[in-house]
Formats: sequence, C-alpha cells, structure tokens
Amino acid sequence: HGTSTINGQGHLEIGGCDTTDLAQRYGTPLYIMDETLVRQRCREYVDAFRASGLKYQVAYASKAFCVMAMCRIVEEEGMSLDVVSDGELYTALQAGFPAERIHFHGNNKTPYEIEMALEAKIGCFVVDNFVELQLLNAIAGEKRQKANVLLRITPGVEAHTHEYISTGQEDSKFGFDLGNGSAYQAVREAATLPNLTLLGIHSHIGSQIFEVDGFKLAVEKVADFAVQVRGELDVTFTVVNLGGGFGIRYVDGDTPLAVSEYVKAITDSVKERFGAANYPLPEIWTEPGRSIVGDAGTTLYTVGTYKDIPGVRKYVAVDGGMTDNPRPALYDSKYEAMLANRAGEPGEEVVSIAGKCCESGDMLIWDVRLPVVTSGDLLAVACTGAYNYAMASNYNRIRRPAVVFVKNGRSDVVVTRESYENLVGNDLIPERMRAKV
Ligand code: LLP
Repeated sequence: HGTSTINGQGHLEIGGCDTTDLAQRYGTPLYIMDETLVRQRCREYVDAFRASGLKYQVAYASKAFCVMAMCRIVEEEGMSLDVVSDGELYTALQAGFPAERIHFHGNNKTPYEIEMALEAKIGCFVVDNFVELQLLNAIAGEKRQKANVLLRITPGVEAHTHEYISTGQEDSKFGFDLGNGSAYQAVREAATLPNLTLLGIHSHIGSQIFEVDGFKLAVEKVADFAVQVRGELDVTFTVVNLGGGFGIRYVDGDTPLAVSEYVKAITDSVKERFGAANYPLPEIWTEPGRSIVGDAGTTLYTVGTYKDIPGVRKYVAVDGGMTDNPRPALYDSKYEAMLANRAGEPGEEVVSIAGKCCESGDMLIWDVRLPVVTSGDLLAVACTGAYNYAMASNYNRIRRPAVVFVKNGRSDVVVTRESYENLVGNDLIPERMRAKV
C-alpha cells in the first residue's frame, strides 16, 4: 500500500527508497515513514469535510506520533493539532506550529501545563472534569485571559475495541458523564465562569473502530444533549468535536472503512440530527491519530539469532522488539511482516518473531509465513506508524531507533537514533559514589 513496491532487485521499496539501502545508511531498527501516504491521509480528511459543506477542523491527535517534522506536515496540510501534555505542546511550539490551532486534552492537566498553554495562547482546552474547570478559570483569571473551552462528555457509547483503548462508556476515567447529569452541570458551570468561553462539547468513543454505528450513536446523544441545554440553559454549542478512533488495517481480517466513509457518516448524521431540531449547524471537529500515520509506518529490523524447537515452533529474533513496539505485549496487537531484502520470494515457513528484551512477553508476531529466514535478513513490519515510536521505551537500556521520512526517492532523518550519551544523559552519580580516578 502507499508508495511501497518491490523493486527489480526484489527489495522492498518505500517512497522510492530501497529499504536495504536505508538499513545500510541509517542502521536498524529503523522507523520508516511514507510521507506521501501521511499527506494523502491528511488530505482525505480535509477533502471529505470540505465536501460535507459543514465548517470543520481536523486536529491530528499527536499522541499517535509526535515529532517536530510531523507537526510541520500537519501545519502544511492546514490541519489543527491535539496535544495531551506539556511535552507534546512543547514539541508543537518548537516546530513553529500555530498556537491558535492547538487543542489541549487530558484528564489531569497540571497547573503548570495550563499556564504554559495559556501563555502560548492555544486555540482551545478540552476540559475533562469539574476540578479542571475551576482550575482553568482561576488561572485564566490570574492571567487576564479568556480560555476557549470544549467539555469532554462521556456519551455512554461502547465502541467494539480493546478494553484499554475504549473510552466512551460510562465507567471511564474520562469526561463528564451524560447519563448521570454531570455533563449538564458542567455546561451550566462553564457558561457562568467568567474566564471561559464555552464553544461546545467533545466526545471520543474509542480507538481502532471499524464501524460507523458508534459514531452515529454518539452524534445522536450529543445532538439530543445540545438541544436540551439550548432549551433549558440557553447555551448553544458552536463546536461539536467527535474525537478520533477511525480504524486501520493491520492484518487481513481488519476491515476499516475509507476515511471518506467515516467522515460522511459523521457529517450526514450531524446534518440530520441537528437539522431535525432546527439547531444552527455546529462546526465539526475531529481528532484522527492512528488513521493519519499508522499505515504509513514500517519498522525495519535485522534478523539475528533463531531457534527451532522441532514440532513446536521456530523463533526468529530481531534487533528490536517491545521497546520500539510495545503494542503486541500491551494489547495483543497483530502485525504483518515480510523480508525486505527478499520481498519477492514466496513464504516457505511459519515462524514467530521475537524481540531482544529479557522477557518472554517480548514477541512481535506469532506465526507469520516467510521465506526461510536466516541471520542478516531484513524484516519489515508494516503499519507501525502510530503508537510505536510514541510509546517506545528504553527498557533494558535499548536505544530508541531513528525515524526517517521517505518521499520520491529521498530520505530525511527526522529523529536520530539515540546515543549512549542520551542514555546516561540524565543520570547522576552522587559525589560519595564517584570512582576515584
Ligand atoms: N482523541 C482523543 C480524545 C483520544 O483519546 C484519542 C486516542 C484520539 C483522539 C486519537 O485516536 P485514534 O484516531 O488514534 O484512534 N495506545 C493505544 C491507543 C490509545 C488511544 C488513546 N486515545 C494503541 O496503541 O492502540
């Protein structure tokens, strides 16, 4: 998919770059991002919203993959950016991302983060709970500023996805509950707090979602609620944010919809639900993360050792693992892989791909069909653009890989491989323990 092909030498090529050359030049493990595909996904969102005729903002959920070059792409594609921490905010600002297009999320924004965001004059805070509502109002008051606010509500919609990444159900750490009256109370409070401008509401039902039903149901609940508070509290929402969560295809059997289909389902049901109530059509905001960057990413590893347990399985170990991709260990996520240096060859054996961390749970893929693998082969794991680099760690003091963007035969390093100096850069040895030299 994307710009991936197999070239004349039988090598996997992405963005016009031979992956065996990339491995040689930058080393492995290596995250490769197909820039053309990232931009294509951005444009699919923007085009689909434009076609709807509604006012919109597409805010890339930077948690999926937040580095300065990515912020530049999002800026160039005319989109907004969703951040959830001071670190993501800092990254965006350092990249020159326009503050007014930044939305700040999170269920426990610290006073410091709120100050930082107000000072930068970001576009909007998505307020998660009553404590934050008061805190934001107070800090904005001290700074003689008014903060734009969306209220995150929990719509009571259960998206069919992994428990750890589903968020719309009632029993959740996120948001004001719609069912028990907290959302109503939050609107009443937000509308009267002097240093807040209430723009509207936000709902995010989960991640890696393949159907539109959950989104339609969320729109329905949000619209009913909007109509209710307009009638009873005289508060009109000018913005409705429906979050992210649009699924992608990791393996055969995953059946995502096209971006345009997700967007059309949402915008159609907004028109229908709000229209039916004669409600002034709100701006629709959305926050895709995974579906912007997920399938654009490929991780390239070098095969090292392998171990055949006759009649059981063959373990093939690569030079990375749960440190660069914790998702299989964390969520039991499935991935597909191929040999990048022998991409044209048919599969001949079923093997399991192990990482190099010191624990048995460090498995990247169980049972994948590959040509007979040997040391030195290059393994390419597909669809690693989202929540891989973003969730990478230094477990076992393994250095985080470099990230390269490829496009039209060009490759640019956007994150360098961590150095040993980086690893010990924050370590301090107390005076009394210092070696005498
Ligand atoms: N908006 C909000 C409020 C969110 O909480 C999230 C994801 C998104 C947008 C973006 O969702 P996406 O379009 O990427 O599905 N680490 C997990 C995913 C956690 C998602 C958390 N929130 C994983 O690796 O699958």
